[in-house]
Amino acid sequence: MGVYINEETQEFHLQSSTSSYIVHVLKNGQIGHLYYGRKIRHRSSFAHLFRIQPRAAESSVYAGDLAFSLDIIKQEYPGYGTSDYREPAFQLEQENGSRISDFQYESYSLSKGKPSLDGLPAVYTEDPSEADTLIFHLKDAVTGAALDLMYSVYAERGIIARSARIHNQGDQVLQANRLLSASVDFPDSRMHMVTLNGSWSRERHVAERPLHEGVQKISSARGTSSAQHNPFLALKRPETTEESGEVFGFHFVYSGNFLAQAEVDHYDSTRVTMGINPFDFRWRLEPGDDFQTPEVILAYSDEGMSGLSGELHSLYRERLVRGPWRDQTRPVLINNWEATYFDFDEKTLVSLASAAKDLGVELFVLDDGWFGRRDDDTSSLGDWYADTRKLPEGLPGLSKKITDLGMAFGLWIEPEMVNEDSELYKKHPDWIIHVPDRPSSHGRNQLTLDLSRQEVVDYLYDQLHARLSEADVSYVKWDMNRNMTEIGSAALPAGRQTETAHRYMLGVYQLYERLITAFPHVLFESCASGGCRFDPGMLYYAPQAWTSDDTDAIERLKIQYGTSIAYPLSTMGAHVSDVPNHQVHRTTSLEMRGDVSIFGMFGYEMDIRKLSVEEQEQMKQQIALYKAKRELIQKGTFHRLLSPFEGDGNRTSWMVVSENKKEALVGWYRVLAEPNPGFPRVKLAGLDPDQLYRVDGGPVRGGDELMHAGLLIDQEHSGSVPPEGEKLGDFISCVYHLEAVDEELL
Ligand code: DGJ
Repeated sequence: MGVYINEETQEFHLQSSTSSYIVHVLKNGQIGHLYYGRKIRHRSSFAHLFRIQPRAAESSVYAGDLAFSLDIIKQEYPGYGTSDYREPAFQLEQENGSRISDFQYESYSLSKGKPSLDGLPAVYTEDPSEADTLIFHLKDAVTGAALDLMYSVYAERGIIARSARIHNQGDQVLQANRLLSASVDFPDSRMHMVTLNGSWSRERHVAERPLHEGVQKISSARGTSSAQHNPFLALKRPETTEESGEVFGFHFVYSGNFLAQAEVDHYDSTRVTMGINPFDFRWRLEPGDDFQTPEVILAYSDEGMSGLSGELHSLYRERLVRGPWRDQTRPVLINNWEATYFDFDEKTLVSLASAAKDLGVELFVLDDGWFGRRDDDTSSLGDWYADTRKLPEGLPGLSKKITDLGMAFGLWIEPEMVNEDSELYKKHPDWIIHVPDRPSSHGRNQLTLDLSRQEVVDYLYDQLHARLSEADVSYVKWDMNRNMTEIGSAALPAGRQTETAHRYMLGVYQLYERLITAFPHVLFESCASGGCRFDPGMLYYAPQAWTSDDTDAIERLKIQYGTSIAYPLSTMGAHVSDVPNHQVHRTTSLEMRGDVSIFGMFGYEMDIRKLSVEEQEQMKQQIALYKAKRELIQKGTFHRLLSPFEGDGNRTSWMVVSENKKEALVGWYRVLAEPNPGFPRVKLAGLDPDQLYRVDGGPVRGGDELMHAGLLIDQEHSGSVPPEGEKLGDFISCVYHLEAVDEELL
């Protein structure tokens, strides 16, 4: 495994634990693509995979060589205008108006490990032997511009990370109209495209469509990666299931505007491209300037969607998330938002925390409303000092009272925003994202601060540094509650206005980096009206993210199931909240809300003081169960068993298995009661087939039996005389615990 290079034929074989990715230098000096798919044994040459023939209707690069048409040739970083009519990876415009480039291979460099990307989130290695990085150095003779294509292949993972870097080494200004991160040409289109789509409070629902001719794309132009489309797409074979078959995943490590698309051409080839959304993007490169694109993760598995998820989960858990919280198990928290909204004082908060502490909660999180004069969402964002009407002794006083209870203290912030009704806005009205001579649209009564400006980032850093220093803060929930509009910056000249959205993201990343460096012990959770910016970029800074504002147990089945396609449980904030649920007004049992939330980073978001004694006891048990199993939940391998998106979606099931396969937790959920149902079994996954497991402290079953014959669900009866212990009615759930037992003991 690693990178094999045939200097003579100029072929490069990047071999990961599961995949092979083979490229070569084309006759015209550009980089061509030969193969991406299941790992194949290295042989000295794969040049025979390059196949072209003259086709009458195609343009070709050379006079007299009708076959060499870029429209037919598979490429690594294609441009437009020189016989390829598909959508390109880039477009550079010269001072004379020409948009034609010809980046020719000059050399390569190969190194151990993986370099970080300036100012951008990226996966990493801890030991250089984990990955090899191959960089192609290309040059455009006419403009003098240099292009580096970077590939890092992980030896023990089915992962390749790709990005591109343009360096203007010439003497004229270049305008980048499009600079995507990766492009991959597949020889066929017999694939389905899987994406994670939604909206606020119904994020990351799984959608699947067969590829067909033309462009099928998802994108964001909202200034965030968005709830509408996660920056993720997978191509799977039609026959691929959860546990078997081939699937290719593409995931963008970025939190702003993006494009992800598959284009099927007239030869049934498929081109996947991913990167910063070229719509409303144009970047000026002065002589000497360079531009690094964010990276794309390419993940491959021939073990179905669960295999793909497994590759992404372990990569993100182990080599994207950083800091001490990467490996530390996460605390059980209570957040006051749905308990009090803006209406609280110190006494209420301490009494809520104290009640939670008695039940086993470890962290109290103070949400929105603690600063400025914020009694609703119309004021004070930007004024990051405590409201002494509510907190007479400020954050130091409150945090002391909480930590004196034996709990950790956490704080909500929304640094990227400002209300018009704030001291900050009065002082710096031009510090917002806006354009001249036009009114600014509002979102949740707020405006977006212009984090493309260094002085804004510095101001926020100073404010937040002061708050996090004066109080004993162990956790920060970093919220972000609106999409961008009228995108422009007062600090940029007219010709650079289209750089604002990306410069903003660089400012957000810089602010995060400085804060996590100054406060390495603090656990950051990112949030954007729930899950509107749940992406790998954010996870580089904040190890977990608030999955959705929708905490209804039934809605969460779809949201958490969909999120798990690309993200590990250790990144998903999941809380038990009040009923009737505040988003959909549905009433589900405390048991079911707990059974769904424990498959995530667990907590509560309700006024637990109002619970009955029985409910408090139940909550205590939920917390005890979570604490006992959180190592398994946070670090185990996740498998989806029954999809809420398939069939009538009435049943969902999933499970998590410990790394050594000695323990597992299975969640099973039924939405509506059914009259006289059948006797279905749920086939488990990921167990050791040769191992015996005790199910819920009772019967012992073989791992092979549980995976192939299935686990009998004992809640599927119905009728006039329900068996004892059966859960009745709608919205029921069970969590089964499997523990390996030694054969000799039986
Ligand atoms: C949106 C978040 O998703 C909620 O959890 C809460 O923090 C509110 N913002 C507070 O304004």
